[in-house]
Amino acid sequence: MMQQIFWEQKPECVVETGTAFGGSALYWAHVLRDQGLEKSRVFTVDIQDYNKKAAADPLWKNYVTFYNGSSTDPAIVQKIAEQVRGKKTIVTLDSDHSMKHVLAEMKLYAPMVTSGSYLIVEDTHSKIRKYRLPTSAAS
Ligand SMILES: C[S@@+](CC[C@H](N)C(=O)[O-])C[C@H]1O[C@@H](n2cnc3c(N)ncnc32)[C@H](O)[C@@H]1O
Repeated sequence: MMQQIFWEQKPECVVETGTAFGGSALYWAHVLRDQGLEKSRVFTVDIQDYNKKAAADPLWKNYVTFYNGSSTDPAIVQKIAEQVRGKKTIVTLDSDHSMKHVLAEMKLYAPMVTSGSYLIVEDTHSKIRKYRLPTSAAS
């Protein structure tokens, strides 16, 4: 699904909240490169900093910028907003899945999404009860 969205949108910027080990950010980098979008970039944020292994990948160094802190920290939001301003942008929310946090992220990151592009809320179909909460924020 995400690959299809990338293919249709040809994003210049992908913003991700919730980096974790960096697997998804590195995957977005692979998809961008493989779709010939060498100038596109991934901006990813997490309160934890445990993506060292992924960050050692040459593709990460070329494509990914990591911000260590909360996705709702105004200073981080501003830095990311400056990076994506005027560029075709997709946002994917995959950090704290509580309704309150997802709603806050939606308000902060929706303005970064290009008209006609996507703001994706991850894990809305998880069967784990607490992870069903993003659906509440999205509805
Ligand atoms: C579901 S994991 C992300 C998985 C990752 N996107 C992937 O697919 O490989 C959720 C991550 O959100 C992070 N997180 C939790 N609260 C956060 C916050 N307020 N701001 C940024 N990241 C947060 C956690 O530290 C955790 O690494």
